[in-house]
Amino acid sequence: AARAIVTDQRCVRGKFPPDALPPLQCCSPASASEPVNFTFPDPAEPLRTRRPVHAVGAEYMAKYARAVVLMKALPRSDPRSFYQQANVHCAYCTGSHRQAGRPDMGVQIHFSWLFFPFHRAYLYFFERIAAKLLGEPGFALPVWTWDVPEGMGIPEVFADEASPLYDPIREPSHAPPKVADLDYILGGGGEKNLTDEQQILHNFRVMYKQMISGATLPSLFLGQPYRDGDPEMPGAGTVEWIPHNTMHLWTGDNSRPNAENMGVYYSAGRDPIFYPHHTNIDRLWESWRGIVGGRRRADFADPDCLDSSFLLYDEEARLVRITVRDVLDIDKLRYAYAGVGLPWLNARP
Ligand code: C2O
Repeated sequence: AARAIVTDQRCVRGKFPPDALPPLQCCSPASASEPVNFTFPDPAEPLRTRRPVHAVGAEYMAKYARAVVLMKALPRSDPRSFYQQANVHCAYCTGSHRQAGRPDMGVQIHFSWLFFPFHRAYLYFFERIAAKLLGEPGFALPVWTWDVPEGMGIPEVFADEASPLYDPIREPSHAPPKVADLDYILGGGGEKNLTDEQQILHNFRVMYKQMISGATLPSLFLGQPYRDGDPEMPGAGTVEWIPHNTMHLWTGDNSRPNAENMGVYYSAGRDPIFYPHHTNIDRLWESWRGIVGGRRRADFADPDCLDSSFLLYDEEARLVRITVRDVLDIDKLRYAYAGVGLPWLNARP
């Protein structure tokens, strides 16, 4: 029998860690009408090309900053506001949305095969909302490419206190020019104290292991099956653990109880760097599928995965039901990645 996880409109207060910073309720405003099923954008739409933060230039980053300002200027009751967009991530990580037919169970999109598809769908709408507010149909989110040396640290523009992309709730000792530590573990002497050159080489080896040698099967890379009725968080894929989770922790403020904002799921979406962090995760999913010799590097074909669905608001503030099946082909979603290589491809330890 089919056992896909179907997100229900019903949403309740989710599970927050102790000492969480408000708001502690993150359900989107209820939709007056039933959700509409996702439809692909017009193939004639301009292709949105997502490029690295370090390569797009100041003018382009100013557009992203302006999009954040415009989203923050929307009333909090608007599902497209920055406040509500950050809450979307919070809702899906605190198990706030109920599973269809299971009022006792929440939908959790981390630590399972839902991780990559959910975040792709979420960014897809976030990007379209930004483009619409900017009045630029081709606007694409920038990518924080922490796996290549030029992007291996908080990009300067996010650390500029005068920029709308700045978030004061970050780890001050990791401000630029600090080189990122891709397998940073909080506590127990998290800092490795390597030279920049050593850290970059270490990071390449981490990438090689997570993307290549350790990620030969869909379940290893994408995460473990998570079906209707299953306990949540059955197991994360390689990249979700490291560098995804670790870069969240590396960015968040270590002196806060939960390493807010980036270091904990419920608040991560409040930092404007979250979205360029996740475009990089999404780009790595695309890269993994394309890695040479990767015959078995294909997405899951299991209908329980493909029929899983999420509810998200689009740029017209319409509630949309989108499935995993809908997000497997980025060309059909009318976006692409460019301007960045895979320098760790041969970093076999
Ligand atoms: Cu939903 Cu980077 O976490």
